[in-house]
Amino acid sequence: MNSFNDLTDFSNDEIDNLIDLANQLEKNPSPNVLKGKVLSLLFLSPSLRTLASFQAGMSRLGGGSFVISPDMSIHGLETRHGIVMDGSAAEHIKEAVPVIASYGDAVGIRAFAERENIDDDLEDIKFKNLSSLVDKPLINMESAIQHPCQNLADWKTMDNLEIPKNGGKFVLSWAYHPNALPLAVPASTLIMAAKRGMDVTVLRPDGFALPKSILEKATNEATKSGGSVLESDNRKVAMEGADVIYAKSWSSTLHYGDQIKDKLLREKFIDWCIDEEWFNTAKKQCKFMHCLPVRRGVVVSDGILDGPRSIVIEEARNRMYAQMAILYKMMKG
Ligand code: CP
Repeated sequence: MNSFNDLTDFSNDEIDNLIDLANQLEKNPSPNVLKGKVLSLLFLSPSLRTLASFQAGMSRLGGGSFVISPDMSIHGLETRHGIVMDGSAAEHIKEAVPVIASYGDAVGIRAFAERENIDDDLEDIKFKNLSSLVDKPLINMESAIQHPCQNLADWKTMDNLEIPKNGGKFVLSWAYHPNALPLAVPASTLIMAAKRGMDVTVLRPDGFALPKSILEKATNEATKSGGSVLESDNRKVAMEGADVIYAKSWSSTLHYGDQIKDKLLREKFIDWCIDEEWFNTAKKQCKFMHCLPVRRGVVVSDGILDGPRSIVIEEARNRMYAQMAILYKMMKG
């Protein structure tokens, strides 16, 4: 494996194989399999789970890793192209990225969306520019429109809990958040659930519809896997018979890049905080998923997060095993 960037680059059989390997590594650790190997990690955006789980995963496989991020005492990094560097930044990403890559056997990069131009973010321009500077196997640790490691861990989490593939109902729900957040998790999660063969409903208020190209890609994946994709703004209808609700806030696509208009619109939906009432029409055992970090009392109630519906800690724990499988395939073959 030379790249882990988009779950749709893999067949469902290949994903099943990766999850089998992740389950195997969870039960039977292989502490020497990547001995002497190094993973270079570049975080241009913040993280808790991704940063910790990649480092822990590499250690558990016998390898090592290092992290570079602008928060550390590194030279200021310039990311703009064609600029005269007479400001505070002392080093350009065009030199920094190949240097970082040269120290490792594989590279992970996290770079969130700029959230200025939706077409650029949908095309993942920033991540593609960074990728072009790397001549080693590359892992997308979340870009403008992809979060494949989260997607693989979420698929594994649902498999482990025997949440049905075909016939399983997955509700991807927008939730309130004070800030306009990126599209990477909702877009890639929608496509993951559709590819898994589930019947997916995107529940969101007006002004927060996911981009047409994302819905089309998800519908194509659903068609191939025997699932379906619908949109709704009706909570009761969307939640009817649901096996899973996956909550996430995202930017208004109507006002993409306009923070003021986005804020004025989202403030109308402050009551989109998931609590037990949302589950009235769902299956009795319906689970609550979220990639974390999550704001308590804003996105979801304490009662749901602390109760039996929540599988958020399982999802986060599975990040490490899913990524260990990716690292194994990438560095051992
Ligand atoms: N879910 C996730 O990617 O978490 P972090 O942003 O903390 O890495």
